Amino acid sequence: MACVKLDGKALAMEIREGLARRVATLKERGVTPGLAVILVGNDPASEIYVRNKGIACEKAGMRSETIRMPEETTQEALEEQIRALNADPGIDGILVQLPLPKHLDERRALNAILPEKDADGFHPMNAGKLLAGEETVIPCTPKGCMRLLASADVPLSGKEAVVVGRSNIVGKPMALLLMQAGCTVTVCHSKTRDLAAHVRRADVVVAAVGKPGIITADMLKPGAAVIDVGINRVDGKVTGDVATEAAEVAGWLTPVPGGVGPMTIAMLLENTVEAAERRA
Ligand code: GUN
Repeated sequence: MACVKLDGKALAMEIREGLARRVATLKERGVTPGLAVILVGNDPASEIYVRNKGIACEKAGMRSETIRMPEETTQEALEEQIRALNADPGIDGILVQLPLPKHLDERRALNAILPEKDADGFHPMNAGKLLAGEETVIPCTPKGCMRLLASADVPLSGKEAVVVGRSNIVGKPMALLLMQAGCTVTVCHSKTRDLAAHVRRADVVVAAVGKPGIITADMLKPGAAVIDVGINRVDGKVTGDVATEAAEVAGWLTPVPGGVGPMTIAMLLENTVEAAERRA
């Protein structure tokens, strides 16, 4: 059985074309969707992500504002900036790029974002709504993973899913979304005793750990759908959390790069356009 490549780059492009049309309609009604990204410090990986987000916004006809704050920014100054964006009628979505420098309190910063402008879905109110199964802003990476699975009609109802990683950004919301889709979900993490034994039972595997090649081909059930969220730099090359040989066993697999990464950006734009549509 040949492995189907889940082409996130192509799907993201298609989604972004659809969003550009929605942006054009909004502009006719006098509303230009605006996304503000706050970047504190100069983490090189974050620099690249933030630049790509800005470019994608502008290509879709949206307003993009990047606020760069120095490494030594205080909690008070960061929250002051967030409050200014909360009050800015031209801004529909606010994103605080994570991780923040160590002296800053991430949770307090995310709490300061107005829930209706929370482009990431990280505000506890939005995270709580997701937990409760209410309609809300869905975090971009898990949302993009679900869209990739849907694009290939990967069966989910009644299937076994294993999410590797328990972060607030990916692992936890991913587990909730898979559960909503009818999967029986197991969440594995750094304290899990026998990762391979769990992964081997899975029809759907989502790897979101940040360890290159932690999911090996021999751990996979033949025909499994494998979503690789990892973005690791190894000898200057970008690789995922899933070993390349997985393609010989998996039924579906996302490439890295060109899988989940472009989908995250497309979903960020979608979340912002949806917020602007609510405003309009
Ligand atoms: N850092 C890594 N991924 C993300 C993301 O999706 N949103 C934000 N704000 N920061 C991140």
